[in-house]
Amino acid sequence: MVDTARLRAYNSWWQARSDAWSQLEEASGQLASAARTGQPGTGLIETASGLLGSLGPVERYWAFPGPEACRLARDLLAAASYSRFASLVAELNRALVTESYRAGTGWPAVSARPAAARPAESTPAPARPYFEVLVVEPLTPAQEHSLREEVRGWRRPSDHFVYELVIVGSAEDALVAARLNANLQACVIRRGFAAAADHDLSSLAQFADSSIAADLAGQPADERAQILGRRLARLRPELDLYLMTEVDVENVAGRLSHHFRRVFHAQEGALELHLTLLAGVAARYRTPFFEALRHYSHRPTGMFHALPISQGKSIVSSHWISDMAGFYGLDIFLAETSATGGGLDSLLEPTGPLRQAQELAAETFGARRTFFVTNGTSTANKIVAQALIAPGDIVLVDRNCHQSHHYGLMLSGAQVTYLDAYPLHQYSMYGAVPLREIKSRLLALRAAGKLDRVKMLMLTNCTFDGIVYDVQRVMEECLAIKPDLVFLWDEAWFAFARFHPVYRARTAMRAARTLAERLQSPDYRASYAGPDPAADDETLLATRLQPDPARARVRVYATQSTHKTLTSLRQGSMIHVHDQDFAQRVAESFHEAYMTHTSTSPNYQILASLDLGRRQAALEGFELVAKQVESAMRLRDAIDNHPLLSRYMRCLSTPELIPAEFRESGIDLPLHYGLASMSAAWETDEFVLDPSRISLYIGPTGIDGATFKREQLMDKFGIQINKTSRNTVLFMTNIGTSRSSVAYLIEVLVAIVRDQENTVAELSPLGQAAQAAAVLKQTSPCAPLPDFSGFHPAFLDHQAAGNPTPEGDVRRAFFLSYDDTSCEYLQPDEAGQRLDAGQPVVSATFVTPYPPGFPVLVPGQLFSQEILAYMHGLDTPEVHGYDPQAGYRVYTAKALEMAQHGTSPAGPAAPGRAGSG
Ligand SMILES: Cc1ncc(COP(=O)(O)O)c(C=O)c1O
Repeated sequence: MVDTARLRAYNSWWQARSDAWSQLEEASGQLASAARTGQPGTGLIETASGLLGSLGPVERYWAFPGPEACRLARDLLAAASYSRFASLVAELNRALVTESYRAGTGWPAVSARPAAARPAESTPAPARPYFEVLVVEPLTPAQEHSLREEVRGWRRPSDHFVYELVIVGSAEDALVAARLNANLQACVIRRGFAAAADHDLSSLAQFADSSIAADLAGQPADERAQILGRRLARLRPELDLYLMTEVDVENVAGRLSHHFRRVFHAQEGALELHLTLLAGVAARYRTPFFEALRHYSHRPTGMFHALPISQGKSIVSSHWISDMAGFYGLDIFLAETSATGGGLDSLLEPTGPLRQAQELAAETFGARRTFFVTNGTSTANKIVAQALIAPGDIVLVDRNCHQSHHYGLMLSGAQVTYLDAYPLHQYSMYGAVPLREIKSRLLALRAAGKLDRVKMLMLTNCTFDGIVYDVQRVMEECLAIKPDLVFLWDEAWFAFARFHPVYRARTAMRAARTLAERLQSPDYRASYAGPDPAADDETLLATRLQPDPARARVRVYATQSTHKTLTSLRQGSMIHVHDQDFAQRVAESFHEAYMTHTSTSPNYQILASLDLGRRQAALEGFELVAKQVESAMRLRDAIDNHPLLSRYMRCLSTPELIPAEFRESGIDLPLHYGLASMSAAWETDEFVLDPSRISLYIGPTGIDGATFKREQLMDKFGIQINKTSRNTVLFMTNIGTSRSSVAYLIEVLVAIVRDQENTVAELSPLGQAAQAAAVLKQTSPCAPLPDFSGFHPAFLDHQAAGNPTPEGDVRRAFFLSYDDTSCEYLQPDEAGQRLDAGQPVVSATFVTPYPPGFPVLVPGQLFSQEILAYMHGLDTPEVHGYDPQAGYRVYTAKALEMAQHGTSPAGPAAPGRAGSG
């Protein structure tokens, strides 16, 4: 018996819908065979009609199988034509599963359909991408039917794409369709649409938004279309929006918001609309660099240049490496070239297809400018740091950021203020940096008279463990204190977020755009009151600060490892820019920084893959990310509800990773209760958790994270994961995660736990005691995570000696260690003794345990007993910058003294620099 109540969707109907159709096929088959041998039981009939009943309300939002097919299925069931019912359902489900419906020839059960409903194109359709177009207009079923047929009649075999229509009558339905149907690529709004749906939406409440009806009430027809257009663009910015109107088309065109691509006259524009719909999708489908490279690769060329691998020439005639071509195929070598002419382009000075590819990427990711990077976000971060920061500029940065920031800051000579994230001692992890911490540092710098030297704030969003900032709020409040602060958001793990309507608001580029619009809005300008001049710091910390619209500049950079979360070859990354002052103040230094860090022989395959990855994101990012998030939620459920697994492990949830003080909404499990509750939490909370990343707590197994990863997941089952902590392992879903891979992971976890249970059961009493001790160790808090202890005075900001702000010169501290006589090695207990004796111990290197992978010590940083205790408690196999034989590399007292008085081999302190560009 099928349980229709289990058809539950978190953020997309994808899994629930395909399960429902498969269950319906099974039930209808049983019904048909029962009917062949006698009268089928009412239970079977009820199951089939229950499933159809739950599919009916959602099918209206898809072209296939769509409402027509559902109506027919219902009629057949009601008429007890069980055999025809079963074959219709089977055909529909097969077409869904195999995706053969994407040929666009209409639904397959031709025998069951009225003749008039057959597709217009009788010749077999060539394989071409398929999409659906949403039409918002109240029509009767007969009118709907004839519109679909008319549109099919416009098709030509030479069309590059094929599409079908989804027709809804109201704005409310249009928003539901935009949330549910990932096949939609365009929407045509006709002026006569209704505001509210004329049917019950309660089963889809989490995808519905009844507030649209109130927004539309009393508005003139054109304004209603604009309001709906804006709402659709907010949900799905990639959708091409068109308006069809019967009246005054010329005037409407002049008032149309930028969200619409075009307006058409209802009577005249049908064919033109059809061609424009195809052209709109073609514009996103274009991959200028990939196309140029492909074209180039088939041209015969003589190669009197470097790169013997080009066109496979050094491989195909080789007696010893021909298996290279066998493995990779020849095309990849045909596409290997060092040409920058002949239709190709130069990454360092792009003017042709690469430039176009980057412009398309900017559009897709909502940036003003985008730059491709072929050496990962490690390089992207260094480029941005060098482009924006001059020696002496003060930079605020999360101490737990990726090492590339530390190196970038060291290279650019910044005065660095490390920010502390909130700790999660129980799991030996850090969360993210509270806004209060950032504001208090800015206020302290203001009090010290140094605000003019503060240049940049660098934060990681989302963090490795999936903690997501309220990006817009952070920027607003910081700009209220320092109006020209530049922001670098490290979105190495967050490129995909642009393509989910709830995540998007917390991306740097969307937040920058919203903030820029806000600062320009007349309402905001009129209502801006400015801070109370008498407010003390405590009041400012407790108040939500607003930026001064007359002074604030929106200067935002985001770096993304496209290769981590979207499609790209390894090392493909992008820098997205929304900086009002870029052209005037940054373009040249950015170019220099880009040249500093970019190879003059960039890898064209990486660039082409970035271009293709952008195309994919623009056309199916919404679908892939929705599926990814849905899969992650199913994985959580499968683990947490499993009777065996749940005894030994659990998926950490929002309250365990984000303390209540940062969750104003009070919603504990945002997506668990559906998209609407996720939106509510994501709109208000200081931090939220990315549900697609799952930290699995494995303390009760008694196995530590690193061993679990290496010995269990990787060695035994070939499952790759990236990060562990003492008692957690992190599973990251991505756009390639399939239902089968989720199922495999569950199988593997069950096998590991069973094996562990059996092993423990057979242990001797001594072994049992050791296992109990291991479990106790993994489930008890270890030494607290240490905060950033501070720089030694030798590396503090000399320019304003005696001031209380903590920024330090990492570059001086780093290069001082190049003189071996400045350094010595100390074993941990010697370091502890010196600290007990009141002598400073100062690191000469970055010391980075992996995991967790952030430096516990940076050059110039003071040791503390807390740091030593933390390092002692770590059972991490890998600690970069620490050699257990030699000990910690630290500065000698003499070197510190010389450095403090400006006589060190590293030279005097860098001068501070005010107001650099
Ligand atoms: C937060 C963060 N930033 C930057 C990077 C570097 O990215 P890439 O591997 O693309 O060089 C990483 C890598 O893990 C990261 O976690």
